Amino acid sequence: MTPVISVRDLQKTFGSVVAARDINVDIPALQTVGIIGANGAGKTTFVNMITGHIRPSSGSIFFAGKDVTGLPSRTICRMGISRSFQVAQIFPSLTVYENMCAAAAIARTNASVVRYALMPLLNEAAIAETEEAIKLFQLSKYRNAQAATLPQGVRKLLDIAMAVAGRPQVLLLDEPTSGISVEEKYDLMEIVMGALKSRKVTVLFVEHDMELVERFAERVLAFYDGTVISDGSPAEVLGDPRVQELITGHAIARSGSVAHA
Ligand SMILES: Nc1ncnc2c1ncn2[C@@H]1O[C@H](COP(=O)(O)OP(=O)(O)OP(=O)(O)O)[C@@H](O)[C@H]1O
Ligand SMILES: [Mg+2]
Repeated sequence: MTPVISVRDLQKTFGSVVAARDINVDIPALQTVGIIGANGAGKTTFVNMITGHIRPSSGSIFFAGKDVTGLPSRTICRMGISRSFQVAQIFPSLTVYENMCAAAAIARTNASVVRYALMPLLNEAAIAETEEAIKLFQLSKYRNAQAATLPQGVRKLLDIAMAVAGRPQVLLLDEPTSGISVEEKYDLMEIVMGALKSRKVTVLFVEHDMELVERFAERVLAFYDGTVISDGSPAEVLGDPRVQELITGHAIARSGSVAHA
């Protein structure tokens, strides 16, 4: 079967900095892929190239066999690749319900941004999506809370629920648990991954916590110095001596559990 995402010889340079090089990856539909790597390894750059937020210096990206290299992020999003950012992108002054309505409605219109403000966007489909997402992401308790007042974990849930409001085939999550306490991270990921599984979304998630990677990823891509140095099951990648030496050494020493995976 055609991979849902195919990346060929991807490179990105920022002046003299090589942020991505020689990346070749095929992601089959419905796979959940963890992306690991130290700060500055090129994880966000990789995500940004797939979603069209930055243009590769060279190489190609295919989505379900179609070449999407260099297309604008809005076009790529409309085609079915959505994402979340390291910092949640929500409207702080709106409630959870209003945020979700906005995302669900915007995802269902082709109108320009100016027209968003002028036309009533909320149709039946957008309201149905809003209600379903609020249940699926366990946001009912916060439905009428202003987004600015939400605990960090709930804010992330809302952000991710909004990112899938357009029913994408692929979702890229850039550090979905950043800024979340250790105790809350696991519950957050349970809700997110359960919701995405039921929506049949292919997921790539950037994560620094190796226990979460081991628990939620079916496959792991380990980034170092702009390229993938290990690609396989969590046990294979987290057990790879190069990964342990260059990326997870400290994490394994701290958690004590990953080394026995
Ligand atoms: N817009 C930019 N301009 C210049 N250099 C950049 C830019 N974006 C990223 N870089 C550089 O590219 C490299 C990869 O950065 P990237 O943000 O992809 O890393 P990362 O793996 O996501 O790190 P982190 O874990 O800190 O989020 C780094 O050396 C970074 O400084
Ligand atoms: Mg990053």
